[in-house]
Amino acid sequence: MRVGVVLGTGHGENGTTGALVDDLLARVRTHTPVEVDLVRTDELALGPSCPACLACMTAGEQACPNADNAQPARALMDAADLVVFATPVHSFTLSATMKRFVDHFAYLIHRPRYFGTPAVLLSTAAGAGHDAALGYLQTAIRRWGFHTVGQLGVNGPGLQKAPYRAKVDQALDELAASAVKAVEDGVEPTPTTSDLIGFRVARLLVESSRDEGPVDAAYWDERGWFDADWFTDAKVPRLPNALAGFVEGRIRKGIASGSAKPYRG
Ligand SMILES: Cc1cc2nc3c(=O)[nH]c(=O)nc-3n(C[C@H](O)[C@H](O)[C@H](O)COP(=O)(O)O)c2cc1C
Repeated sequence: MRVGVVLGTGHGENGTTGALVDDLLARVRTHTPVEVDLVRTDELALGPSCPACLACMTAGEQACPNADNAQPARALMDAADLVVFATPVHSFTLSATMKRFVDHFAYLIHRPRYFGTPAVLLSTAAGAGHDAALGYLQTAIRRWGFHTVGQLGVNGPGLQKAPYRAKVDQALDELAASAVKAVEDGVEPTPTTSDLIGFRVARLLVESSRDEGPVDAAYWDERGWFDADWFTDAKVPRLPNALAGFVEGRIRKGIASGSAKPYRG
């Protein structure tokens, strides 16, 4: 099995998050031989942040000023049977370099490509913040096509205590088993209401930006997505799809008439 690891910490493989990734990979190896590709988001030379030029969307990902430096991460994801995204919690969310990595692949929201590839999400913290870090990662990578088969947020200092360590070990055993099973089964999950709304919102974005650049729309044209309800042949559940259609109608109306309300929390 080929596992790609995206490691979002300056402490690298010797830090708390890196050690957790190792613990998971050791368990995956008890099921099947594993080949690992790893990128450290701190070491990807992606500048202080995404340049926000939107060239990746309008002209294609190769037009990003940092395209060559982002390529190892792209190659890793392209080749992987399973991807592990791992981040420390920084100020109640993912690390800045992990976020910078995500931003450099924003074009995948418009041109998703990883349907059928399972992902595992890991985070470590000294206290709290796993919910925001892992929740954000789950949402972001789903838009790229990946589906999360398991996640684990661990308290680093807590690992010194045997009862907590035992619970983490058990969770890692379960996570490794479900990740291996997901790869072996190769079954793509049935799209949820949220997935189906995501599909329709992406379609809306691509449709409305056709004039700014043909790349996104050509990608959708090639795949027949403008006339579809979902990105793949997976069975689309009827009721959630109807709900997604209703939400899309409301969004379209809100945009066309200006009746959409600003977000007030
Ligand atoms: C800038 C910064 C912000 C942090 N913010 C949080 C936080 O909000 N919540 C928390 O529980 N731990 C926080 N931590 C602690 C790290 O999440 C924790 O030490 C983590 O396990 C480090 O993983 P690493 O060794 O892989 O980098 C923070 C650490 C740093 C450096």
